[in-house]
Parts: sequence; structure tokens; C-alpha cells
Amino acid sequence: MTSPSEAAASRRTFAIISHPDAGKTTLTEKFLLYGGAISEAGAVKTRQGRRSATSDWMEMEQKRGISITSTALQFRYRDRVLNLLDTPGHRDFSEDTYRVLAATDAAIMVLDAAKGIEPQTLKLFEVCRQREVPLLTFINKWDRPGRGPLELLDEIEEQLSIRPTPVTWPVGIPGDFHGVVDRRTGHFVKFDRTDRGSRAAPEEIHPVAGFDGSDLSGWSEALDELELLDAIGADLDAKSFLAGESSPVFFGSALTNFGVRLLLDAVVDVAPAPAPRPDVDDRPRALDAPFSGFAFKVQANMEKAHRDRVAFVRVCSGRFERGMSVVHEPTGRPFSTKYAHTVFGSDRSTVEEAYPGDVVGLVNAGDVRVGDTLYVDPPVRFPPIPAFAPEMFRRIRTTDTGRFKQFRRGLEQLDQEGVIQVLRDDDVGDVEPVLAAVGALQFEVATHRLENEFGAPVELRAAPFNVARRTDEESMAELRRLPGVEVLRRRDGTLLALFESEFYLQRIEAEKEGLTLLPILEGQP
Ligand code: G4P
Repeated sequence: MTSPSEAAASRRTFAIISHPDAGKTTLTEKFLLYGGAISEAGAVKTRQGRRSATSDWMEMEQKRGISITSTALQFRYRDRVLNLLDTPGHRDFSEDTYRVLAATDAAIMVLDAAKGIEPQTLKLFEVCRQREVPLLTFINKWDRPGRGPLELLDEIEEQLSIRPTPVTWPVGIPGDFHGVVDRRTGHFVKFDRTDRGSRAAPEEIHPVAGFDGSDLSGWSEALDELELLDAIGADLDAKSFLAGESSPVFFGSALTNFGVRLLLDAVVDVAPAPAPRPDVDDRPRALDAPFSGFAFKVQANMEKAHRDRVAFVRVCSGRFERGMSVVHEPTGRPFSTKYAHTVFGSDRSTVEEAYPGDVVGLVNAGDVRVGDTLYVDPPVRFPPIPAFAPEMFRRIRTTDTGRFKQFRRGLEQLDQEGVIQVLRDDDVGDVEPVLAAVGALQFEVATHRLENEFGAPVELRAAPFNVARRTDEESMAELRRLPGVEVLRRRDGTLLALFESEFYLQRIEAEKEGLTLLPILEGQP
């Protein structure tokens, strides 16, 4: 039988992050095509129904055309098992992305060649850097007019402070794309189109030296640029890539499949395999230790018919077997894994076993919250996934007092799933708590779900806060005496002091010494 460490060595767990429309869904689909998980592109994402692609199932997502929820897809490529974790494309859900990144070992950043770094997603990329996730870059849509490759590299370096190291280099002007040169091997990979990329793109491989490309547009420019890159030594560097400091760059077109194989090969060859995960005391849990994992996503209501709750757990050590009893670390209670499954879009299939790097969905995970550890003896606790500093606040109440119970239950559920943070006044409780979010769409998701899933009509009111700080019991009384300041409690017990503006907060900090006012997330302002 394979040992967990052997299984881990053949796995790659990664995510794709991108601005909406840069091509994440298309690329995901092409990965599945190349991995043989689907036989023809278009099977997952039909042209008309493209917004109901595999990972988009929630009614609201379909309406809004954005991907709010995450799923994990597993497929084989070469002799490896690839776990692709989906991330929401909208920055309002960057906290969800952050949680997914806690569970991945690498990420692919997809950029649209015509647009480069888009402001809306800058935040997602920053999140990636914050977690020091090794980042591959795919510059997509090279089949149509766009910007020059050198200009795009400059932009990546300037805006993301990450050093781009092109692994492939495009031949042909954007819109008239012939192929890429693989800088590692010196081979020109020439592509041919297939019908909307429904099958793998046919490739011809020629050594650059000796290939006569004079009849290809952009051939001599590409050679000049390659020389320049060699001169500045912008080469793939494993050490800085793994530290999240440099990013191997690939050019291509997901739609026509150009460059997709090279990118997928890089996931196998360059991205790291699952490694022993450090616990809260920074001691790594050996891959061959008994099962352990942590929840990075909790999701309710996956299907209308089921209305259950699924915790997505990344396996960190050992062999997971369906039906095994594991311990839920925070409560110390045993947890049955009889209903473990993988999710492929909206289809569930039972998972019998899983290894480090894999994701299992545990159904009926009533008590499991984002960040919780599950294990089989000996005990382990992985570091919690820190909550973001909220930047937007609203008061919420139900407009139908007869539905107060449902309202409370709904809030509790959304809070536990991490859809939104619910802040309460210790003395007042749930009557009109404050919702705290990173992006406005989170409020929409919360109200939509409270009304449709829990049957509690709600009303949001503006709350005059824009900044939050962590505080403690000692400072609470004094802070509460200040006009316009409220001190509320988060589910995890943390006390948050809310202020109307950064300016006001600074004034208080200057005038009142000794108050505890800390950043919410370490490393953030
Ligand atoms: P997302 O998940 O990041 O939001 O992007 P998605 O893959 O849905 O792609 C957004 C649009 O960009 C789609 O067009 C898709 O076909 C197109 N696209 C993706 N990759 C490429 C590429 O390499 N080249 C070109 N030219 N287009 C690409 P759409 O018109 O919105 O949908 P559809 O009708 O084409 O499906």
C-alpha cells in the first residue's frame, strides 16, 4: 500500500486566482481536458450556460455572474494527482481566497494580455503574497490583440513587487500567435488551432537554433527579446519562487489551448508537493503521521435538496479513510466521516481515501468551523486562519419579529461559515448586531441567504464605522465612553473597537495613552 509520504510526493495542490473574465474558468476546463477528466472542452462550460460552469452553482452566483463559492477538483495528469482549488474572482471575497490559499501549496495567477494587472484583483494577489504562496503567472488571451510581453512583465514587477521570470516567450504579435519558445530547453513550440480548443492543441516542437521562422510574424522580435532576457538573466529560480519572491511566467491562450500543456507541466515539475505542515508551535506534522487536516471552507446548502453543511478539509498527514473516526480538536469530540465526498462541480461522489494535499468534503459537519483541526491520535493543532480586518459595517435586524429564531440561526450559520463577521454588543445580543465585511457583496450574500435559506426578512442600516481595531476588557470601558466608538465582540471572543475614521482613531491614539488598539490581522495596518 502507498505510504502517505509517497502519495504526497505525487500530488500537487494549487489554486487559480484571477480577475473575473481573465480566463480562470476556461483554463480550469482546459486543465481538466488535458488531464483526461473531461473528453471534450465545452462539456463543463457550455457556451450559452457558461455562467453555470462546474464551480458556479449558487443561484446568486449565476445571477451575478461571479463565482462566490469554492470547490475542489481532482484530476490526474502524467502520473500525478492534481488538486485544483477554486477561488472567487471578486475582490469582495478576498477573505475566501485567503482561506483557500491557506490550503494550497501554489497558485496560478491568470492575467488578460490586453489588461495586465487589474486593480480589482490587486487585492487577491496581495493576499497571495501575504501568505507567501509560490505563484506561477499565466498571461492569457494571446490569440487576440493585447499588450507587449515586456511591458506586461514590467507591470507585474512594479505593481506586485514580485520578480517575473519568463519560462516561455510568445512568438507572434498578440492576435497572430504562433507559439512559444521554452527558454529552458531552447525549443520553439508551434501551435495549431483546434475548434475553439475543444481538443488538445497540436504542437510541433523545433529547436530554435536552425528553425527558419522568417515567414512567421514577430519571429525576429521574439529572438531579440529572448536575447535581452538572457542578458538580464531573468531565469526561473526555484528558491525565490518557493519563497513567493519570483514568479515563473507562461504565455498562452486558454481558449485555443496554446501554452496550456506547458503550464500544466510546470504545475507538476515546478510547484511543490505537499510538505509536513507546522502546527501551532511550529513543529511539522510528519506526512506519515496518523491522519490530520484542517477545514478551510465551510459551506451550507450545497444543494437545495440536501440543506446540509459541508466542511472542506485539506488533508495534512496520514491516510484518510471514509468512515474513520477523527477528533475535532477544538471540542475534543469524535467526528464520524461516514459521509465524506469529493465535489466535482455540483456532483458529489463519495471519497474512500485521501492523502496529504487532497481535499475532502465532510457532510454534517455541524461543529466544524473554518480553521479547525481534525486528527487521529496523537493530537495536533494547526495554526488558525486569521480573520481579515473588516472595512465595511452595517447594522442588521429582521423586519419580521416572528422570524427572530430563524434570523439568529441564520446569522450564526453565516458567521461560522465565514460568509460575514457578526459583531455583538455583550449587553444587547442579537437584536441588532453589526455585520462586518471586507467587500460589499458579502452583505448581499448574507441578506440573500437569510431571506431565502432561513426565511428571515432583514433590513440593513448604515453603521457609522470604517475602521476596526482589536482591543481588550481593560480598555473597553474607557473606549465606550468616547463619542462615536463602539466595542463589540466577535464569535471567537475577540473584542473589536469600531471607529468612524482612521483620522479619529489616530486622534484617540495620540490623546489617550495606554489603550489597547491592535491591528486585526498581524502584518496588516
Ligand atoms: P473567468 O473564469 O476568469 O471569469 O473567465 P472565463 O474563463 O469565463 O473567460 C471569460 C471570457 O474570456 C470568455 O468569453 C472566454 O471565452 C474568454 N477567454 C478565455 N480565455 C481566452 C483566450 O485565451 N482567448 C480569448 N480570445 N478569449 C478567452 P465570453 O465571451 O464571456 O464567453 P464565451 O461565450 O466565449 O464562452
